[in-house]
Amino acid sequence: VERTPLIAGNWKMNLDHLQAIAFVQKLSWALKDARHDYADVEVAVFPPFTDLRSVQTLLAADKLSLKLGAQDVSPHESGAYTGDISAQFLAKLEAAYVIVGHSERRHGHGEDDATVGAKARAAAAAGVTPVICVGETAEDLAEHGAAAIPVAQLEAALAELPKGAEFVLAYEPVWAIGSGQAATPEQAEAVARALREAILRARGEEAAGSTRILYGGSVTSQNIAGFMRQPNVDGALVGGASLKSDEFSRIIQFKK
Ligand code: G3H
Repeated sequence: VERTPLIAGNWKMNLDHLQAIAFVQKLSWALKDARHDYADVEVAVFPPFTDLRSVQTLLAADKLSLKLGAQDVSPHESGAYTGDISAQFLAKLEAAYVIVGHSERRHGHGEDDATVGAKARAAAAAGVTPVICVGETAEDLAEHGAAAIPVAQLEAALAELPKGAEFVLAYEPVWAIGSGQAATPEQAEAVARALREAILRARGEEAAGSTRILYGGSVTSQNIAGFMRQPNVDGALVGGASLKSDEFSRIIQFKK
């Protein structure tokens, strides 16, 4: 099965809407120069909520092929949920993707598997593809090995997500996030393979063949190619390195 690689830039809580406009303009110039080098790669940026409208306007006006994503979403449709953002609002802003279950939400905001699954379900119902994040901590790794926790997190999320709903999976070992210490391509591949087998069990062959599995955790232009060479790794969820337009555009132009 051919899966279009996805390079996703998660800005986290960086770049206000004015900085976002300047950044996306710079990135678009870099990518226009390089267009032939990344024609077969899908690229998405995940700005803070307050930037989404500005970035959407810019992408639409400039006919850029960049896709838009959000970093989180409410599990609820609408109503008395102060501070929440509905998946339908994201859909109206033409957000193609939304991250759910990032480890910074799981650990910093106490999100459990059921909440992550409910968020994925709300996103899919609104037509926004959830990017479901899973990954083990250093303690999990020592105690259970690499794959057990990510697979359990995936299975729990899929229990909430209707069959047939499209999703992207991001494997992010917590110990590799923002640490400068990325997993090796072989480590990423081993867990990605286990995750694909779990998709096969839960969703069948078609979903297992078509679902993209990203690696995330200290991805740079120096190490991206090694991940992209792995048969079960279909892209990257990039944090820190997505905030520098030159570096991010080098990542997008990875050469296997
Ligand atoms: O969502 C992105 C990840 O948490 C990776 O962040 O590239 O800064 O390690 P990082």
